[in-house]
Amino acid sequence: MTYTEKDKNSHSYFIRTYGCQMNLHDSEHISGLLEEAGFKPAAEIGQADLVIFNTCMVRKSAEQKIFGSIASVTSNKDAGKPMIAVCGCMAQVYGVELLNRFPGVDLVFGLGAVGELERLLVMAKERRVCAIENLDECLIDALPCVREKRFKAWLPISHGCNNFCSYCIVPFARGREKSRNLDEILEEASRLGTDGVVEVVLLGHNVNSYGADLPDDVDFVDVLEGVSRIPGIRRIRFETSHPKNITERTIAAIAQIPEVCEHLHLPVQSGSDAVLKKMNRGYTRDYYLDIVDTARKLVSGLSVTTDIIVGFPGETDEQFEETLNLVRRVEFDSAYVFLYSPRPGTRALQMGDDVPIETKRKRFDELHRLQQRITARKLQSMVGKRFEVLIEGSAQKGDFFEGRTRGNHVVLISDYGLVPGMIVEANIISAGGHALRGRAEKVLCNPLLE
Ligand code: 5AD
Ligand code: SF4
Repeated sequence: MTYTEKDKNSHSYFIRTYGCQMNLHDSEHISGLLEEAGFKPAAEIGQADLVIFNTCMVRKSAEQKIFGSIASVTSNKDAGKPMIAVCGCMAQVYGVELLNRFPGVDLVFGLGAVGELERLLVMAKERRVCAIENLDECLIDALPCVREKRFKAWLPISHGCNNFCSYCIVPFARGREKSRNLDEILEEASRLGTDGVVEVVLLGHNVNSYGADLPDDVDFVDVLEGVSRIPGIRRIRFETSHPKNITERTIAAIAQIPEVCEHLHLPVQSGSDAVLKKMNRGYTRDYYLDIVDTARKLVSGLSVTTDIIVGFPGETDEQFEETLNLVRRVEFDSAYVFLYSPRPGTRALQMGDDVPIETKRKRFDELHRLQQRITARKLQSMVGKRFEVLIEGSAQKGDFFEGRTRGNHVVLISDYGLVPGMIVEANIISAGGHALRGRAEKVLCNPLLE
């Protein structure tokens, strides 16, 4: 049994996505599948016949927000409408428990079952369904895709993670690391290039361990080199790098391959060796500092960003002070700071959550303020200089176009005649706390003329 033509044409969908870029990209595949099956996107959640929650559970705060949102949509259900489905990390970890918790949810499906979505939706019309398959293959990449942006695309190179950082739910929600075949990645990159994509963001929870699980002798540098040879692709980004696996060879490739952007997102998580050990991060503070020094020496104009967790179990004032010192020493371009949040099934859960919430918040504020000052100083030092900027779209407020430098700094430009997808050389005229203001001086690439 499938959806009838009439059914399909009268069906609209809305996907609410939470979490990381991998989740956002998975939602592009879900949209692709649904649109190929005849569904139309709804402008608002309240107008959709099918609502899908693509969930994240990396922190409890995200989880509570999602539970609240599912509860509010399920409680407004009228005569069985809309159909409500939950997928993503929470589906993978909680499975059928979600059906018990939310009587209004019709379908729970895991990443491995995305390809079966149309069939599952038909089944869910008759009875509530939970479909969680194991995650042995990267099947999702072969599915249709509706990209959010025309000129910029996410390209997963691996799925899952083997690192088991003691605080992290990802290896439980997304399974062990599975690298995609290099030919498959390059074929997809080629299609993106032909389709007019100028910037590709290579995705993996640890891009630096790419290939370790494959029979062929390939590594992350092979991906960078291969993608850089694809016609049309002018910029390559990648996320996330793990300090324990990044090699000097990779850093040299970032320096030497012109298409690879000079930006390294290198989560440090803590500046204290004792905390890093308890986090099972596999490197020391000095090792991390050495990598940053080497990278800055080899890659001119490199921007370095990071993730930091404050209030990990047992973190003392002195250990937190070591994190502040590391941040002062490295001077990151920007940093995401998180309050530690205990997650089910993780090793850190057994360590207790003994740093009081007030202390966590105090540490968060102190670190955040320090980083804000550093970010503002860095942005200020770019004023009066020229940078290559890819125009990504119009900014949310005002009539500015928003673009990004190769270092991933946001630049707002108000010139007329710009279109998304253009790469311009911009003169930076002023700097705010988070973004730069620029003037386009020269068009380097115009998608309308290529
Ligand atoms: N608590 C707080 N932050 C976390 N992260 C991952 N797990 C947790 C957790 N349990 C942060 C890490 C990671 C980022 C994506 O989320 O800093 O790099
Ligand atoms: Fe989580 Fe660590 Fe894997 Fe990143 S490297 S996804 S923090 S387990």
